[in-house]
Amino acid sequence: MRPLIAGNWKMNGLGADVARILGPLRDAAAGLACDLLVCPPATLLAAAARLAGSRVPVGAQDCHAAPAGPHTGDLAAPMLREAGATWVILGHSERRAEHGESDALVRAKAVAAAAAGLSPIVCVGETQAEREAGAHLEVVRRQVAGSLPDGFAGVVAYEPVWAIGTGRTPGVAEVAEMHAAIRAALQARLGPAAAAGLRILYGGSVKPENAASLLAVAEVGGALVGGASLDPSAFLAIARAAPALPNPAASR
Ligand code: PGA
Repeated sequence: MRPLIAGNWKMNGLGADVARILGPLRDAAAGLACDLLVCPPATLLAAAARLAGSRVPVGAQDCHAAPAGPHTGDLAAPMLREAGATWVILGHSERRAEHGESDALVRAKAVAAAAAGLSPIVCVGETQAEREAGAHLEVVRRQVAGSLPDGFAGVVAYEPVWAIGTGRTPGVAEVAEMHAAIRAALQARLGPAAAAGLRILYGGSVKPENAASLLAVAEVGGALVGGASLDPSAFLAIARAAPALPNPAASR
């Protein structure tokens, strides 16, 4: 299994940005030892999928839990799939905080995503206060247990809320501790065989300068990159810093 370097553009990007950002990624993808993924705003999904073809998959940043219905302004997983997405980020802390998304809702969205043929990236992570209270492992274990449906076959992204967009990152020991705890929680939730094949990404202020050390931590299977994913050279520098994952996929 190759590391996954995923870009989350968040609410950034207009039409011109598709070629500016995705063009260089598409051209470099074949020479990389990792998998790339780009998650632009939903308005750009179709253009991004057209430009990247099969070389860089594209993903959405959220989906509704229902396949269709009276939900003004929302987007259903089959719509995103039809627009060209093959992945979807779910339960990002910005959605948990700004839209009150619960673990149960994230789980329902993950079911909807899988039914529509989208691979979910489910985000988990503690706040600053939870870490200061020493509750970070318990909080994230609870999120993993509550947010993943039975038979989950996607990716989990550990994103400490206090590291997102702040320039601050946990130390490698903290990342190692949390990723080991997530691996154990995945084994408990899904069984050892299913858990072994799942990548666990680190996200939160990943930059070219810190990518090599973060990506080298045991059980880190790639990165979910926000701000730096808007700069194609920074994003590619992060992708080039990703070491091969241990083989066989015994632990990942
Ligand atoms: P950041 O965002 O890289 O800008 O910290 C990461 C994320 O929220 O996915």
